[in-house]
Amino acid sequence: MRAWTRARRAQGETIAFVPTMGYLHEGHLSLIRGALSLADHVVASIYVNPSQFAPHEDFETYPRDTERDLSALESLGCSAVFVPDTLYGQGGAPAQRAWIEVSELSAPLCGASRPHFFRGVATVVAKLFHIVEPDTAVFGDKDFQQRRVIERMVEDLDLPVRIVGLPIVREPDGLAMSSRNVRLSSEERLRARAVPQSLELAERLISAGELDVDAVRRQVRSHIESAGGEVDYVAIVDPDSLQTPDRVSGPVRVAVAATFGGVRLIDNRPVDPRGA
Ligand code: PAF
Repeated sequence: MRAWTRARRAQGETIAFVPTMGYLHEGHLSLIRGALSLADHVVASIYVNPSQFAPHEDFETYPRDTERDLSALESLGCSAVFVPDTLYGQGGAPAQRAWIEVSELSAPLCGASRPHFFRGVATVVAKLFHIVEPDTAVFGDKDFQQRRVIERMVEDLDLPVRIVGLPIVREPDGLAMSSRNVRLSSEERLRARAVPQSLELAERLISAGELDVDAVRRQVRSHIESAGGEVDYVAIVDPDSLQTPDRVSGPVRVAVAATFGGVRLIDNRPVDPRGA
């Protein structure tokens, strides 16, 4: 992989990289299209990373369809796809000894209920950056905390990669695209629309002048719960520090995680009280 990149770079060509865990949907494909406009070549990777799953999570059953992914990537014009069998040697993730921990940004939101998650992500993304050596790497804003963690890692470790975040792509019913959506029954799927709707509710409340963070969070939570969702968190945070203010006084990210029928969904929306 590295030899391939270096040969391109020797020709003066640039590389944009889209790391994925496969089972590609329109959200991933929009990242590929975005990446095509940022560099001469796009490289994607497909790797379901064991180190970002806890033992009780869905690593084994995470949906996979590499053949379909490869043909989608090829038809979009990806120059290369990196599909390692493993990045952790024979022992799998537990054999890993060196980890990248991005403190503070990894602690709130998804980090609170998945404490192992961001060190697994940061470590594998650093490994992928060292293997692919891209000029630019593209991440989707559905995982906006992940993007912030990676931006901080790149900044603090002086990694020579530019990070670009691209907006969430939604299904026609408003649900953020996710590889896990296929696991929702049609009835759960209908109820799960409460997740994006609850973010719109937050935006309406804030634009109507409700700037008390706890008051907005309570209404968002009860919107999801009345649709039968089990809320993991509702957060209103500063988009850079991910800290929770008492009151909304500038741009914030409203972010939620909730489970419908055992399927965990995350979603978020930027809200600017001045622009809303
Ligand atoms: O967002 C994902 O799909 C994964 O977390 C990533 C960035 C590919 C690392 O495994």
